Amino acid sequence: MNITVLPGDGIGPEVTREAIRVLTGVAFAFDLEVKIDEQLIGGVAIQENGTPFPDETRESCINSDAVFLGAVGSPEFDGLPPHERPEIGLLGLRQALGGFANLRPAKAVDALIDSSPLRPEIFKGTDLLIVRELLGGLYFGTPRGFDEGRTGGYNTMRYSVDEIERVARVAFEAALGRRKKVTSVDKANVLETSQIWRETVTRIAADYPDVELDHLFVDACAMHLVTAPTQFDVILTENLFGDILSDEAAVLTGSLGMLASATIGSDIGLYEPIHGSAPHIAGKNIANPLGTIASVGMLFRYSAKNEPAALAIEDAIESVLEDGYRTSDIAPPNCDKLVSTQEMGGFVLERAVENAQNKLARHAA
Ligand code: NAD
Ligand code: IPM
Ligand code: MN
Repeated sequence: MNITVLPGDGIGPEVTREAIRVLTGVAFAFDLEVKIDEQLIGGVAIQENGTPFPDETRESCINSDAVFLGAVGSPEFDGLPPHERPEIGLLGLRQALGGFANLRPAKAVDALIDSSPLRPEIFKGTDLLIVRELLGGLYFGTPRGFDEGRTGGYNTMRYSVDEIERVARVAFEAALGRRKKVTSVDKANVLETSQIWRETVTRIAADYPDVELDHLFVDACAMHLVTAPTQFDVILTENLFGDILSDEAAVLTGSLGMLASATIGSDIGLYEPIHGSAPHIAGKNIANPLGTIASVGMLFRYSAKNEPAALAIEDAIESVLEDGYRTSDIAPPNCDKLVSTQEMGGFVLERAVENAQNKLARHAA
């Protein structure tokens, strides 16, 4: 399969390097042919080509089977208006690929229970999936802009029934393979878009009688996420709410560096960790690569349709954590197994390839 790799800015290249090592190692173990084309996006693309999403990058992406992204964004562009910033490159990419459902799983693994500032009894056992609508809402709604003389600014939140319906179906389908519960999150007490959202999700739920549906306002959901997160199975929500709630959900896993994502709904899957370019730790070989590596697992699951390869990676991550290896963001004080980005990647790679070989051996027996 053809994969376009976009390392991007800040820690993006460091964590992507580890993820791609794992990708190629596991692909090789499963005898899967992978062709990688590395391209520019974000701040590095602005520096090289004057634009955050160059045509060459777009061409490569739309002709691939999957796209893998590190992170974009750099303080050097902080003064620029949104349409000139590195981040717009990522939004352009998402639009070009067309995937509308961004899956962000958050699981509290026992090995990291002490890495969260929350008390274990509150969140132990948490295993949830945020299904974030990715192509609508305030991110893409028009009109948008600044008022004359920059006396103000405006964005538009707009959702059509079709946009809601298609992402709702992804959430219900996902719930069928999990604990069969969908919590739809909106602000229907205030927003028209949310009223259409709630009506549409309720109507689609009738097609999934085995799935329980409940609704929460987003402010209450934010509170429930850190007080009673085990109640959640699938959380279905719009673009900006999903962005915010997924960073909050990262607290349940120990670090923002742990969370992976997959964007599905079109022929070309997009895989990226949920975190950003973390400029202040960039270039130090200390960033946590596990969320990025877990995104490789999701690539095997959704684009390569190779569940054993996905599990080989996910099991490897858990087992390396069980052995006590920690990057600094998830390390306890005086941790005796503190490792760098590269070392962590190496351990996961080794374990993942071992898992892959064991799975193949079992299959052959
Ligand atoms: P951030 O996600 O980069 O960092 C938030 C905090 O989490 C920081 O303290 C950072 O050090 C920590 N962190 C993030 N990833 C980590 C990792 N893998 N290992 C260890 N610690 C990690 O968010 P921010 O600081 O708000 O934004 C920085 C830049 O990244 C901005 O330009 C922003 O627009 C961009 N951004 C990009 C993406 C993306 O490319 N998908 C996502 C979010 C933010
Ligand atoms: C994310 C990021 C992006 C988003 C930004 C960088 C455009 O925060 O992937 O969560 O808001 O979607
Ligand atoms: Mn975000």
